[in-house]
Amino acid sequence: MKTINSISGMRKKALKWRQEGLSIALVPTMGFFHEGHLSLMRTAKSKADLVVVSLFVNPAQFGPNEDLSRYPRDFERDSKLAERQGVGCLFCPDAGDIYPPGFQTWIRVEGLSHGLCGASRPEHFRGVATIVAKLLIIVQPDMAIFGQKDFQQLRVIRRMVRDLNMPVNIIAHPIVREPDGLAMSSRNIYLDAKERESALSLFQALRLAEKMVAKGCRSGPEVIQAIRNHIQSFDNTKIDYIFLGDPESLEECREIVGEALLALAVWVGKTRLIDNTLLTQ
Ligand code: PAF
Repeated sequence: MKTINSISGMRKKALKWRQEGLSIALVPTMGFFHEGHLSLMRTAKSKADLVVVSLFVNPAQFGPNEDLSRYPRDFERDSKLAERQGVGCLFCPDAGDIYPPGFQTWIRVEGLSHGLCGASRPEHFRGVATIVAKLLIIVQPDMAIFGQKDFQQLRVIRRMVRDLNMPVNIIAHPIVREPDGLAMSSRNIYLDAKERESALSLFQALRLAEKMVAKGCRSGPEVIQAIRNHIQSFDNTKIDYIFLGDPESLEECREIVGEALLALAVWVGKTRLIDNTLLTQ
């Protein structure tokens, strides 16, 4: 596996592979790999000749009081794990090269970025869309793979790719969970033992909603109230949002008809966790 730091080095390598007729899958990450990332890499490997994993803790998607400085990092471990999944290239650019002095070009995906996580993280999706666009321009992969845990992120990226006619196939990967159901996240490392117990409230709340819908409940407010009660029964939890709505437009709905997205963001102590499921009638 090659590790490339420079943008021009990455460009050259990817161009050479494309000229050789090899297909490329990009897995964008912020590092500190867990089984969720590794599973994205293996899926990428099964779909393309070469896998490029980008590892870049993107400052532009963190708010002023968020966890940029303490975001977990372990390059040596990440590098070994990526190599073991058959990754061809780990692309780790410098923040100064990605955002050189005078940088002033941003991508905003208007409507889809506003609700859910965008409500409490106003510039987050501007940062995500911009870095993903830059990575797609640098690597020019045939496909890029994203986890479905960040459902809104996936919707924003799909919209951007469609709106800007970017020639790349965006592939969604199902949420990877711990054996007890907690969605895997690099941020789970922040949780102490008691918080780890409370973190399970998200997964349990989603399952509760699925059961209510399976028994015939169609009322959004009823489902949301049941979820709220469940999460609040755990120590140290504070709900940021419970969203029920259309998985395409991300518009809220009061009645569950067809397929509905149920998405949660919950503070457990000082850690903000997200999770989601698709409810089907
Ligand atoms: O999902 C993430 O880890 C990040 O938002 C991404 C897509 C790598 C962009 O920095």
